[in-house]
Amino acid sequence: MQSTVDEFLGRWELHQPELAAETGQARVWKVLSKHGPAALKIYRRQDRGNEAPGTALLAAWHDRGAVRILNEEKNAVLMEWLDGPSLGDIARAGRPEDAIRTLAETASRLHSEITPPIVGLKPLERDFAPLFDCTFGPTCPSTLYHDMTSAIALAKHLLNGQSTSAPLHGDLHPDNIILTTKGPRVFDAKGYVGDPAFELANAVRHPKGMPELVRQPTQIENCLSLYSKVMKVPKQRLAQWAAAKCALSIFWRSEGAIENDPETDLLSRLLKEAGQ
Ligand SMILES: Nc1ncnc2c1ncn2[C@@H]1O[C@H](COP(=O)(O)OP(=O)(O)OP(=O)(O)O)[C@@H](O)[C@H]1O
Ligand SMILES: [Mg+2]
Repeated sequence: MQSTVDEFLGRWELHQPELAAETGQARVWKVLSKHGPAALKIYRRQDRGNEAPGTALLAAWHDRGAVRILNEEKNAVLMEWLDGPSLGDIARAGRPEDAIRTLAETASRLHSEITPPIVGLKPLERDFAPLFDCTFGPTCPSTLYHDMTSAIALAKHLLNGQSTSAPLHGDLHPDNIILTTKGPRVFDAKGYVGDPAFELANAVRHPKGMPELVRQPTQIENCLSLYSKVMKVPKQRLAQWAAAKCALSIFWRSEGAIENDPETDLLSRLLKEAGQ
């Protein structure tokens, strides 16, 4: 049975709920808590769509720019309310360079030191595994079929060759960082463990809502250079993860057999950048 906001208002002594966001997996309410304004994220699924390890990682990274976690339960998280524009908002308002630079600095801070061991982080393999059994529908363009096949082989190669492993936010992009008066604050972590070259690879497809920008060769090149520098990883490996993650996102969107997809052209570009 789905939990309602009222349950948590009573149990966690929260007041004045206002619906702030409704997403595929959850609802986010702005509430008043004894700690001040807070965000109450209530997931539709009891297992939080397997995002629980992400909360543990955010708590461990609190001193490095992650949102403060105030409480959590099976399918809900209470965190400090972050006031300010997201880096995605800043990019879409006409300052994408500022957003990308701040994203890179934020990632660098999260990964500046070794993180103490955290129980339950998900190996990257676990989220990639279903991609290896993907199927294609009759209207799938041959270029997409071909590129998905290359990206799947690439993903297997990357997963098998992870020589270093670190805790990863796993969804580090401009819409998961809010610029507060105290500095950038990160939220919405997946909580993976794996190759640090994965961490900013997905950000190459962002900011959301700027499809022309993310396809510009100079933009792709600048992101690959900056992100590989701050993560201290080889640029080509980051490009390879970007292509592999783009393929995984296409698979997730397909909900079954892969047909056409708005990122078909982006996948081709990223595979070229990755040397495939
Ligand atoms: N601590 C917070 N302070 C202020 N706003 C928040 C906070 N947490 C979430 N939000 C708002 O709610 C939106 C959705 O939250 P979140 O990013 O966690 O979900 P999501 O991107 O849909 O991810 P998923 O569905 O994968 O959990 C954010 O983009 C942001 O606008
Ligand atoms: Mg988010």
